[in-house]
Amino acid sequence: MGILIRTELEEDYHRVEEITRIAFSYPGRIEQGGIGCPYEHWMVHELRKRDGILALSLVAELDNIVVGHIICSKAEVRTIDRVIPVLNFGPISVMPEYQRKGVGKALMNSMICKAKTLGFGAILFFGRPEYYPQFGFKEASLWGITDLNGQNYPAFMGMELIPGYLACANGGKYYESSIYDDDLNREKVKAFDDLYFA
Ligand SMILES: CC(C)(COP(=O)(O)OP(=O)(O)OC[C@H]1O[C@@H](n2cnc3c(N)ncnc32)[C@H](O)[C@@H]1OP(=O)(O)O)[C@@H](O)C(=O)NCCC(=O)NCCS
Repeated sequence: MGILIRTELEEDYHRVEEITRIAFSYPGRIEQGGIGCPYEHWMVHELRKRDGILALSLVAELDNIVVGHIICSKAEVRTIDRVIPVLNFGPISVMPEYQRKGVGKALMNSMICKAKTLGFGAILFFGRPEYYPQFGFKEASLWGITDLNGQNYPAFMGMELIPGYLACANGGKYYESSIYDDDLNREKVKAFDDLYFA
């Protein structure tokens, strides 16, 4: 089965948001907390619109059908005396009926490769600790980097793309796109869904 990874185009936008919404509607999702409904498709939509934040957006095609997507944004680690640019990624989504066929792996490997080509020195993100170590991600605590609240946990992971890039990040805090500070709630997502997915 040939998986094609390519840059997302404007004509992919709606399909990508649909894939993201469906992929994140998996059973048990609501019980995991959050705002009580999938919102990651809204994030994808917003990330594309915000000036200077979007770094990379890739889709996966199987038999000319877009079945998966990954999006990356610019982020940084701030220490007392430095601001260190890094890449954040997420969400990554694969249509449920195409999962466990290597699409996610192809998207991840392509994203890492393109991130290096773009000159990023490291990737930091929050995600499922059971999925990402296979790509070489390690807990961010390895480099002495914490989240905004000074916390570390298995879901906060990273990877150096340039060896030693995070050596000067020790004691730093991780800052993501302003999108994560948005006052997101069910009503906002419902209004978005009514507009785009009714
Ligand atoms: C996570 C996700 C992107 C993976 O995509 P995928 O195309 O199914 O992944 P792949 O087929 O490339 O998986 C490669 C390997 O990763 C592992 N893997 C895949 N999904 C996994 C999961 N949910 N949990 C743990 N390991 C997983 C397996 O080892 C798999 O190999 P195997 O099928 O031979 O066992 C997809 O399941 C998805 O869209 N999930 C819903 C949205 C989501 O949770 N996104 C990530 C949030 S952090």
